[in-house]
Amino acid sequence: MINVPKGTKDMLPSHSRKWRTVENAAKKTAALYNVKQIRTPVFESADLFLRSIGDSTDIVNKEMYIFEDKGGRKMALRPEGTAGVMRSFIENNLGDTLPLKVFYIESLYRYEQPQAGRYREHHQFGAEFFGSALPEFDVELLSLARDFLREIGFTGLVLRLNSIGCPKCRAEYNKALRAFLSSIEDKLCGDCKRRALTNPLRALDCKVPSCKALYENAPIITDYLCDECRAHFGSVQSGLDAVGIEYELDGKLVRGLDYYTRTVFEFCDNEKLALMGGGRYDGLCEQLGGKPTPCVGFGCGIERLIAAAESRGIEFEKDSPQVFVSAQCDGARTECARIVKALRDGGISAERDLMGKSLKAQFKYADRQGFAYVITIGESELATGEYNVKCMADGSVTPIHKNSVTDDVRRIICQR
Ligand code: HAM
Repeated sequence: MINVPKGTKDMLPSHSRKWRTVENAAKKTAALYNVKQIRTPVFESADLFLRSIGDSTDIVNKEMYIFEDKGGRKMALRPEGTAGVMRSFIENNLGDTLPLKVFYIESLYRYEQPQAGRYREHHQFGAEFFGSALPEFDVELLSLARDFLREIGFTGLVLRLNSIGCPKCRAEYNKALRAFLSSIEDKLCGDCKRRALTNPLRALDCKVPSCKALYENAPIITDYLCDECRAHFGSVQSGLDAVGIEYELDGKLVRGLDYYTRTVFEFCDNEKLALMGGGRYDGLCEQLGGKPTPCVGFGCGIERLIAAAESRGIEFEKDSPQVFVSAQCDGARTECARIVKALRDGGISAERDLMGKSLKAQFKYADRQGFAYVITIGESELATGEYNVKCMADGSVTPIHKNSVTDDVRRIICQR
């Protein structure tokens, strides 16, 4: 017996309506904001991720699925979505008309220690906005995020917000953070000792509890922001106030990817688990060989989002097939097939027995599948051309005629 790989899950048909709810909300909200969909390959050159996410991050250091293809190229399964979208933006000259706003719904791969809400394959609804350094751009992206969460039924999620400045103010902050880390060096985990030398900011997202406790007293990046970054952050906050998005400032939020500049944020549920994370990455395009292009984006973990929705009792879209056409005798099967085709041609979802089930078993199937209506065809229906449409919700029966099945059924559906 071969099992599903560790840290991955099958999306079973009975759960598909939950995924559909999230994906429909994503597409509907994206369309409201004129955000177009993009799809990029599931694997890319490993260098793309080393150069964008950063070679001292946990994602690159510990979690990437790297392999050599038959041509000897070093490839990686994408651990996140931003780098691939940026590669495509540069390669396809998508910056000719700015701003450009894109979204994706895709699978991602990280070799993590599997636990609740942390998988080796997960999926994200992500959005990336290219082209503007204005704080309004950050607010537009966060409005999209808020409206998407609201469309699913979330209210009261906490938005944690911070600014990690630009390379200029980050350099000042790194000096202070390095000094702090060296003052407690003997108490740090091995990784943090290394991070203190190579990339001190990365220490702040260390998952080791003893390190986390020590960093409670670390210097705070917002105390080191330059005038421009401070003003930008202030305007993002007043923009959020203006559109009614509540947030909590969190000076310790730095996020685990190196490409961020200025605004960073996470939408968390009650247990502080991040459902969505993102921020600005104004330097990434240039870093990867493109023209300087300020950008902001988010990635929302769909598995975590569904789990959070379930725990809050949020209703998902229901599976609602419309008409089941049951055959009372073998002689009725051809007529059932004709009716099903006519209904489908008219845009009404319909199904019939494909298993040779008894009439009782067909009814049971229709009920379990959640069909709204059942039409039963037997000897007398074949003889008269008069059929009955039974409404499964209230048991009421409406007569219809053989020659006008689709119109009659449509009228019945509209009347309910
Ligand atoms: P991230 O914070 O690494 O950011 O991931 C975004 C979201 O994906 C997280 O908040 C979480 O909900 C979900 N997630 C991450 N890892 C896992 C996992 N192992 N299992 C389940 N869910 C997970 C990024 O990926 C950035 N690319 C976001 C971004 C887009 N920033 C700018 N643009």
